[in-house]
Amino acid sequence: MTARFPARPAGIAYGGDYNPEQWPREVQLEDVELMREAGVTMVSLAIFAWALLEPAEGRYEFGWLDEIVDRLHANGITVDLATPTAATPAWFVQAYPESLPVTREGVQVGFGGREHSCPSSPEYRAATARLATALAEHYRDHPAVVLWHVHNEYGAPLGECYCPTSVLAFRDWLRARYGDLEALNEAWGTIFWSQRYTDWAQIDAPRHNHTAVNPAQRLDFARFTSDEHLACYTLQRDILRRITPDIPVTTNFMTTNCKSMDLWKWAREVDVVSNNHYLNAEEPDNHIILSMSADLARSLGGGRPWIIMEHSTSAVNWQPRNLAKGPGELRRNSLTHVARGADGVLFFQWRASRFGAEKFHSAMVPQGGTGTQVWRDVVALGAELPALSRVRGEQVPAEVAVVWDFESYWALELDWRPSVDLAFRERVNAYYEALWREHVTVDFVHPESDLTAYKVVVAPSLYLLGEAGAKNLHAYVHSGGTLVVSYFSGIVDEHDTVPVGPYPGALRDTLGLWVEEFHPLRTAEQVALSGGGVGRIWSEHVHLTGASEIQMFASGPDAGRPAVTRHAVGDGHAWYVATAPSDLRDLLGSVLDEAGVDVPIGLPDTLEVVVRGSQRFLVNHGSDGVTAYGVTVPAGGVAVVPA
Ligand code: GAL
Ligand code: ZN
Repeated sequence: MTARFPARPAGIAYGGDYNPEQWPREVQLEDVELMREAGVTMVSLAIFAWALLEPAEGRYEFGWLDEIVDRLHANGITVDLATPTAATPAWFVQAYPESLPVTREGVQVGFGGREHSCPSSPEYRAATARLATALAEHYRDHPAVVLWHVHNEYGAPLGECYCPTSVLAFRDWLRARYGDLEALNEAWGTIFWSQRYTDWAQIDAPRHNHTAVNPAQRLDFARFTSDEHLACYTLQRDILRRITPDIPVTTNFMTTNCKSMDLWKWAREVDVVSNNHYLNAEEPDNHIILSMSADLARSLGGGRPWIIMEHSTSAVNWQPRNLAKGPGELRRNSLTHVARGADGVLFFQWRASRFGAEKFHSAMVPQGGTGTQVWRDVVALGAELPALSRVRGEQVPAEVAVVWDFESYWALELDWRPSVDLAFRERVNAYYEALWREHVTVDFVHPESDLTAYKVVVAPSLYLLGEAGAKNLHAYVHSGGTLVVSYFSGIVDEHDTVPVGPYPGALRDTLGLWVEEFHPLRTAEQVALSGGGVGRIWSEHVHLTGASEIQMFASGPDAGRPAVTRHAVGDGHAWYVATAPSDLRDLLGSVLDEAGVDVPIGLPDTLEVVVRGSQRFLVNHGSDGVTAYGVTVPAGGVAVVPA
């Protein structure tokens, strides 16, 4: 295993995606001057430079890049060197047109964008292996290169491919998973709708259909897709590790912006987690999702420091309305990432491009150049980060964990669920936001993660739960943990099959109840809850078999029946919440209190409070100044004080 995190630069790495190939030499010379002025210490290079690095098959041209890498090095700037495999050049597509992916609707993607390669294409994989080898051999001894950035955002924007090569690869993947066709027929429940297979060659990708396609087939195709991309990554990673064993390898995830890769599996394969995060500009309180993205990045790496590889200095260019960041927002966003474990702060991108699809995207050097607020903010942040070097490598302690399982996320959002309002992110966001407003830092965990370190574990929408995960959660409660489960959890196993007996099969014993009937609420319908507040989205007929009721439904289809329950199991407690309560913070407040979680009191819920190592970060998202922990944090400001 190589180094976990680049040894250099020494402090919090600072910089962005750098695309010098878009600029003449005089601008490149100005770039390094400005980078020094801004305190830039690391840039990601060559991410989309395949056409220049290999202008014709097998002909590599590194001269132009050598000049740039040497210049950066001479100016003390380290390089996160990319393998530019996210966009094959025109000559490649001309020679291997079958490498272009096919969408679920059967449309073959054309050239002219990026990310247009079938992950199962043998020609594509072979070309990436050759290119990674050539790059690694060429730069193996260059002191500027401190990190490998393989590809770019695997699985986005198009992850799945339905071409004939992918169908063959899917069959191989299924053979490896199930061994024989009988096992596959059983797992997919193919007796239903006469889908029984008698020959492997009959199995197709779950392509577009006028009705719902077999959900187990779709779920396996999602797993296969993540694995195919992962194989593309490890192919390159292994080459890089062999040639440059001392240079760590990463690839940039999108923890909360894209769900198509099973990042728990992926995170085991990178030396350091890196994450891209972009705010949804029109969403109120979008900084809470930013915190979530950062917490997930940290958790995927088991708490180790990670890198915010891309975020924006101001507006992006791909949303319906691309709003510029407000005063102080660049700083708040960046320092939140640092507070939550980032040891590198990078932006997309260094200099705004003049042409191409992204010319309206913000950058560290915007179209307006250095006479701009963005540039002043970039320089100020670069000047501030060295003082935060003391948190580099430090941990972010958390007493509470939230369960996040990509497979369950995929499964829940397939066709024909009891209500369109059942959505993984809707519930995860709600619980996360309530905890955030209580100033509670959370880790994210997989259902099979070691949970012993947490006082409280919350499973907001854990629709799919396998036997191992269910046992793990039960054992956690039994040995003294507090588990909070929300409705429509533990409903199916890994094949999207309902376990024998009443819902929620996998969690019945842990929760001490069973559910007779679901009563999804109508759009905007609310039901009253005893003791105050209302429930939205969901109501159901719960029977208690050991749990006691904490709150009842006071109106609606389940009036007089349990809405919130608690079950003593061994030394711990399992709570169940059968609706989306308006007073989630009150409910969680009681749970946290009972479990002895340290919750700061008397602070406004717009003040973000995070401890990292010896420091406490206070990020004020409110419109008034706040005095706390011996310091006054102005509205929109950030303070870092000893913890
Ligand atoms: C990312 C991508 C970058 C850039 C950025 C713009 O998803 O990795 O290359 O396109 O979005 O926001
Ligand atoms: Zn394909």
